[in-house]
Amino acid sequence: MENWRSHLKRILIFILGVVPIFLIYHSYLNYDRKSESFDIPYVDPGPYHVAYPRNYKFIMDDTPTCKTTTPFLVLMVPVAPRDVAARDAIRKTWGSERLVLGQLVETVFIVGLLGGADAEQQQEKLRQENQQHHDLIQSNFQDSYYNLTIKTMMMLEWLNAHCVKASYVLKIDSDILLHVQNLVKLLLDPKTAKQNYMTGLVWWHSPVLRDPSNKFYMPKEVIAEPEYPPYPLGMAYVMSLDLPGKILGVSPQIKPVNIEDVYLAMCLKRLGISPTDPPEKTMFLVDPKHPLSGCSLSKVIAVTTTSVQQMTGYWERSRQPDAKCSTSSGLPKLE
Ligand SMILES: *[C@@H]1O[C@H](CO)[C@@H](O)[C@H](O)[C@H]1NC(C)=O
Repeated sequence: MENWRSHLKRILIFILGVVPIFLIYHSYLNYDRKSESFDIPYVDPGPYHVAYPRNYKFIMDDTPTCKTTTPFLVLMVPVAPRDVAARDAIRKTWGSERLVLGQLVETVFIVGLLGGADAEQQQEKLRQENQQHHDLIQSNFQDSYYNLTIKTMMMLEWLNAHCVKASYVLKIDSDILLHVQNLVKLLLDPKTAKQNYMTGLVWWHSPVLRDPSNKFYMPKEVIAEPEYPPYPLGMAYVMSLDLPGKILGVSPQIKPVNIEDVYLAMCLKRLGISPTDPPEKTMFLVDPKHPLSGCSLSKVIAVTTTSVQQMTGYWERSRQPDAKCSTSSGLPKLE
């Protein structure tokens, strides 16, 4: 009798112990399944994500580019709305080259919304600038360095809506010197792919930076992998115009991060597309030693400059017929 009672006690204790654990485990399993089968509610993405809810609009968009024309190459320049000096310099230099090696090339600028006390006044100036040039595209997100990924995605949306009949786009920052002819030459080369093509200064095996004081800090909770997929640096990259639609197609599956070129790399990886190195390492220079020689300038496609004056000066020099490389004997090198 005594034996039987202590046995019952043990069974009771066992049940009391196990049932709550089972219940907790069960509700945990259910919770997990719920978050998979239902739409995950919107959660503030925090400082290392950007909000790209895919419902921004274009509030200025009367450029004829890709609408009444079919360029071979679109030059797309994301630029700060206030940086009219950079836009004017580009309009006077490489942005003015419209027919290159028989191909139509057109330049457009993309901006977001102005902030600050004088936003309205500046917006009016922007409107007037566009009335003169018809080369501005403006979307209704707040323009800031931190929002660059939104800008890039809006650029892709615009290209996908208007430029699918054009062949290539070059995304280029406003402080870069572009050698349009060298770029067109590369794109006309039969060895250059016409689809799934992306080139620029490709960074292979770029480590994810974990130092919180670094400008490009990325916590493990956002990207767990130790290195990024390969990506062409944001200064200037080329894409075939089938890619904007494909990237937009996979982007809802990829959480946006605020480093725009890295985000494109994550989308490309999902598509199973790898960027291509340019034929020469000297074609894209991100951090060159200035001043550049006429010889170097004759070989580049895109190179970072330190001022509007330097960019203008380089462009003028790169167009002079003697901007060629000589051999050590001083004779011009045979092409
Ligand atoms: C980015 O743009 C969104 C939409 O306009 C805005 O709400 C947000 O404040 C912007 N972020 C920054 C850091 O500018």
